[in-house]
This record gives sequence, structure tokens and C-alpha cells, in this order.
Amino acid sequence: MEQLLQKIADLKTEIAAFANGDAETFRIKYLGTKGLVKTIMGEMKNVAAENKKEAGQLLNEFKLFTEAKYEALNEALTKSEIENLPAGQAGLKSEIDLTLPGDPLPLGSRHPISLVKNKIISIFQRLGFAVAEGPEIEDDFHNFTALNLPENHPARDMQDTFYISQNPDWLLRTHTSSVQVREMQKACLPGQGNLPIRIICPGRVYRNETISARAHCFFHQVEGLYIAENVSFADLKQTLYFFVQEMFGAAVKVRFRPSYFPFTEPSAEMDISCLICGGEGCSVCKKTGWVEILGCGMVHPNVLDNCGIDSNKYTGFAFGMGIERITMLKYQIKDLRLFSENDVRFLNQFTSAV
Ligand code: PHE
Repeated sequence: MEQLLQKIADLKTEIAAFANGDAETFRIKYLGTKGLVKTIMGEMKNVAAENKKEAGQLLNEFKLFTEAKYEALNEALTKSEIENLPAGQAGLKSEIDLTLPGDPLPLGSRHPISLVKNKIISIFQRLGFAVAEGPEIEDDFHNFTALNLPENHPARDMQDTFYISQNPDWLLRTHTSSVQVREMQKACLPGQGNLPIRIICPGRVYRNETISARAHCFFHQVEGLYIAENVSFADLKQTLYFFVQEMFGAAVKVRFRPSYFPFTEPSAEMDISCLICGGEGCSVCKKTGWVEILGCGMVHPNVLDNCGIDSNKYTGFAFGMGIERITMLKYQIKDLRLFSENDVRFLNQFTSAV
């Protein structure tokens, strides 16, 4: 009896110290058919008759103690398993079916403005144009003055400008022509850049306009600049003609209309035949069969001089287009506000490249 008592006491200490974790090992060792509880129960036959009752009670109590420990181990295991499950799967407990297919990762999509911007960039890159970028907060010189728009020039009203209240010399750029100014200046600094210049300037621009289906207080542009010796209007036309064919297909027609920009002379606007009605006349082209897509012209000599480039030696052309406008035509989107509302039902439609 004494021996039995000692054995039970030892086992209890051992069991109490059993570390959390492997409940199954515990079950096999203590509660299994060849487990220690069974073995020690077998000791009953060696106990003297007068002690049998007491020994029975002790052994029974020991068995319950061991079973309780097993329960506790099992529970702890389930808990730690649940804690280690990925978010959203808690509740599966330990019944994880590893043969089930994994959760699919939803494919994101590029914003249509990015898709079209990248397409425009790649077309001009094939013609040898490099991408140039500049700050969205500009100073008056780079956005206006250098571009032949001195202070109080009436054409400054063409682009309603957001000024930075702390410093009236700072503004949100109204076009990426400001980047062209920076690049022209750079080209003249020794060791910084070189002529000829052949760049496109994609980026966000800001104008204080009432938000509607056709206008927003910010939008995106790609402007282009080519400066070298003997650049002519014919080069400009051919470059833009190539662009339109690559962007919209060979069947699209183009036309140039004389226009006015302070920084180009002569200036033009380029129209393409309406993609919606094919030139027949519809609401998108306002029954004219044509839609305007960009402004362009030969860089005004004053602009070259303002940026330190010899206007007697060099000539160049420049152009600028709104990416929103091109995207609306390309995808037949009627409301420009959709681009900035971030409605996934709209954005999910652009999963494939242009
Ligand atoms: N900067 C003009 C605009 O934002 C576009 C333009 C660029 C026109 C270059 C002519 C030449 O409206």
C-alpha cells in the first residue's frame, strides 16, 4: 500500500509538470491501453484485502486527475491552434482540411489614367523621347513668365490658377510646360544636360475650375518638347500623326486648326475624327465629326531666350494633351469625375492593358 501511495504521488507530480502542447503523447503515455494508469490499476491485485477499498478510491481519484489534465491539454492545444490561424479562419478549430484550395488573391487593376499614360509614354519613347518630371508646386517663373506670359499678361486668365496663400510666387502648376522650362534651363548648364532636347512630361496639373462631367480642379497631362537645329512644323505634324495612329488606330483622321498659345508661334490645336460616330456627327463631337485632343506649336523664340537657349540657332516644337480627355475617348467614358471617385465597380473594368 505504501509503495502504491508513493507511486501515485510521483506520477501526480510528473503529470502536473507535463508541458502544454502535445495532448496526444500524453494520452498514449498515461491513458492509452498500455498507459501508466492502466498499469497502476493492475497493482490492485497486490494490495492487501483490508486496504483494497482505500486503494480503489485513491486509484480512481488518480485516474480522474489524469483525465482532467488530458482535457486541459487538449483545450490548450485547440486554443493555440486557433491563435495561429490566419485572420478570418478562426473558428475552424483543429479541423483544418489541408486539401482545400487556398483563398484566391484578387488581382488588382491599374487605373485607366495610368494605363493610358503608360501607353502614351511608350509611343513617344519609341520615337526617342525621354520622360521628364518636375514639381507640382511651382513658382511663377517656371509656370508663366518663362513661357512668354509676363505678369499681367491677359493669357494668364486662360488657366485659372491656385496660388499658395503663404507665398504669392508659388502656385500649383497649371500645366507641365513648367517641366519643359526646367529641362531647357538644365540643358544650358554645363555638365547637366545637352541639346537637343527630346522629352515628354507626364504629370498632374491643377486649375481652379468648377467640377463637372467635363472639367475638374485637377487632371493629368502629357506635354512634349523637341528642340534641335532645323526642327520644323512638318516634324511636329508627323510626330503627332504617328502618335494618333499608334494610340487610336490607322483609320483615325487628324486635322490641325490654327490657335493661340503665348509660348508657341505658330500655334495649333489638333483634332481627330470622332471615335464614337466615325465622323458622322454625334453628341460627343457635338455633331462636328471632330474632337480636339491637344494643343501644339513651334516654341516661341522668347521662350527659348528666357531659358537660355539661342533662338537664332535652335528651333523646336511643343505639344500638350490631357490624359483624361484621351482616356474618355478611348473607353467612351462620359463623366470625368469617375476618374477620381475610386468606385471599384468602375475601376475593375480596366483589368487588362490598353
Ligand atoms: N500648355 C498648354 C496647356 O496646358 C498645352 C500646350 C503645350 C500647347 C505646348 C501648346 C504647346 O493648355
